[in-house]
Amino acid sequence: MKKIGVITTGGDAPGMNATIRSVVRSAIYNNIEVIGIYDGFKGLYEKKFEKLTSRSVSGIINQGGTILKTKRFYEFKNKEIREICYKNLVQENIEGLVTIGGDGSAKGAYALYSEFSFPVVHIPASIDNDVYGTDYTIGFDTAVNTAIDAIDKIRDTATSHERTFIIEVMGRDSGNLALEVGIVCGAEIVIIPEIDFNIENIVEEIKQEEKKGKNSCIIVLAEGAGKAEELAKILSDKLPEREIRYAILGYIQRGGRPTYLTRKLATIFGSKAVEFLLENKYGYMVGIKGEEIVGIPLIDVVSRKKEPNISYLDIIRKMAI
Ligand code: F6P
Repeated sequence: MKKIGVITTGGDAPGMNATIRSVVRSAIYNNIEVIGIYDGFKGLYEKKFEKLTSRSVSGIINQGGTILKTKRFYEFKNKEIREICYKNLVQENIEGLVTIGGDGSAKGAYALYSEFSFPVVHIPASIDNDVYGTDYTIGFDTAVNTAIDAIDKIRDTATSHERTFIIEVMGRDSGNLALEVGIVCGAEIVIIPEIDFNIENIVEEIKQEEKKGKNSCIIVLAEGAGKAEELAKILSDKLPEREIRYAILGYIQRGGRPTYLTRKLATIFGSKAVEFLLENKYGYMVGIKGEEIVGIPLIDVVSRKKEPNISYLDIIRKMAI
């Protein structure tokens, strides 16, 4: 293999830059030329290509976002569009592609591999940690740490004013981020889309906590389970004596300097992805299972759903006594 492409797609995640750096340098180390594809699959369609050198990726290990930029490109769902993307890769003499992104990007990567037999290796990067086959995605640890910072601050005001705070975190339709954030921030209640919740139970829990002398309360709400504003309104109506407030953490979770764990995963995954291409191990995603770096067939990644560890909810309940 003489020339490969690297692309970041879907929502950005901290550590994407560290991943690009690792892919570029691992490839160049093996005498492979690297073409950066800008703007995700949209840039692949529009041929936004640029040769990357070792120096192109200097000083980015510590930067959030992605130097290659990214776009949501829903048109990639059309086979004709994908065909043009494939032809663009071939015309540019790109012989392999490393895709960096979340579960949607894995689907795109799998389509290029399965429809055109194009050599693709995917690297999971998403703050949602919702990609099947890997314990962690690149960026998740940073997003959790960002949420910890924010919630610790909110806790100060929640305690001082004896308020109930609903904090909405990202995660799309997955509760992984909310659960992880909830357990490490000492939330009393965590609401995730995978488990139906009953508003009366939540009201009862808040009342019980008050009886135990707890006058402030942190509720972490996964965005996929509902809207913080609506939940705050419902709880205010049902508990008029309590001061209910809400905060939406939103996009701050997607930015910022990658943490130690994010950078480590990014650097190892990037290097492994290039190894896979050199070994003709295509149609795989790089992942981590326990301590081990593994390859998971993309067919499994795209056809299965990563379930959250709902046993965390029991621990959260125990910690709330
Ligand atoms: O997948 C990452 C993510 O940040 C989700 O948590 C969120 O629901 C979504 O992307 C937001 O997407 P967009 O950037 O298109 O608004």
